[in-house]
Amino acid sequence: MLEEVKELLLEVEKFVPKSAIELEGFRLSFLGKKGKTNELFAAFKEVPSDQKKDFGAAINNLKQLVQSKIKEHKDSFEVEAENSEIDLTRPVALDNLGSRHPISLIRNEIVEIFTRIGFTISEGPEIEDDWHNFSALNTPKEHPARDMQDTFFIQTNPDILLRSHTSTVQVRYMNDNKPPIRTLSPGRVYRNEAISARAHCIFHQVEGLYIDEDVSFADLKQCLLYFAKEMFGEKTKIRLRPSYFPFTEPSAEVDVSCNICNSKGCNVCKNTGYLEILGCGMVDPNVLENCGIDSKKYSGFAFGMGIERIAMLKYGVKDLRLFFENDVRFLKQFSAL
Ligand code: DAH
Repeated sequence: MLEEVKELLLEVEKFVPKSAIELEGFRLSFLGKKGKTNELFAAFKEVPSDQKKDFGAAINNLKQLVQSKIKEHKDSFEVEAENSEIDLTRPVALDNLGSRHPISLIRNEIVEIFTRIGFTISEGPEIEDDWHNFSALNTPKEHPARDMQDTFFIQTNPDILLRSHTSTVQVRYMNDNKPPIRTLSPGRVYRNEAISARAHCIFHQVEGLYIDEDVSFADLKQCLLYFAKEMFGEKTKIRLRPSYFPFTEPSAEVDVSCNICNSKGCNVCKNTGYLEILGCGMVDPNVLENCGIDSKKYSGFAFGMGIERIAMLKYGVKDLRLFFENDVRFLKQFSAL
């Protein structure tokens, strides 16, 4: 027994830990609950009484040696940690989380305004076919309205295209759902445009569709007035100008009063006091029939607006390209909004 303790003493003397973890292992193996020192103390009662004194002293010796070994090396590892490049006591740096893109902010705001009056959200594919983008929307082949939008067609299959407006989702939604319908379809659209401060080949639109029995133009006007006030402020007025879209009859373009000059006339509204925000109209009966809805029983309205356009008006951004360049200096200005 005494021999065993002596061997352990030698082992401890020779021990040189290479890391704090190794030192901790050493501490546990000697001083832990099930460690060697406790084992030896447990064996103490077996030792003949004349050897008890020497044996006890040897175990105490061993214990002290282990403790001093730990103390000696623990300090050196702590010094090492202090001197290393990593300061474990330093408070963590705040994560720079970025901010929502202004287009997302405006889209969310539009969605929120319309969901409050019962609209639900629907989406459709960005790669479309001729039927959903044109034909079902009362824009047959050779119709001059096809020239209104320079579309990206797939060369090998001219039936496939990148949708030029989100009105495509109207068609899909009416095919899949029965009236009453109140749906809002935000999404990305593509047009073969030269990129400038006012136009881009990719941009975002929100399409609205409302179909039920006895829906009138007055409902359309009231719905858009509600939207304009929520979006641009309680004092906002709207103005409807007659227009033309193949998928609505009658059609209109909607302007909102310029909140920069209070409709007095400034260079943003080009001295007209009003700014154009969207196109709308009563869904053409042909479109309803194309989508399997009885046009004698149901009527409805539709509208479509450009998200970039609304964002430019709301935030006073003069160049549409800024929304696509993603310069952090531009984007971070919207983080607190
Ligand atoms: N699709 C039209 C465009 O891209 C916008 C539009 C106008 C949508 C009138 C409509 C509408 O639903 O009724 O210019």
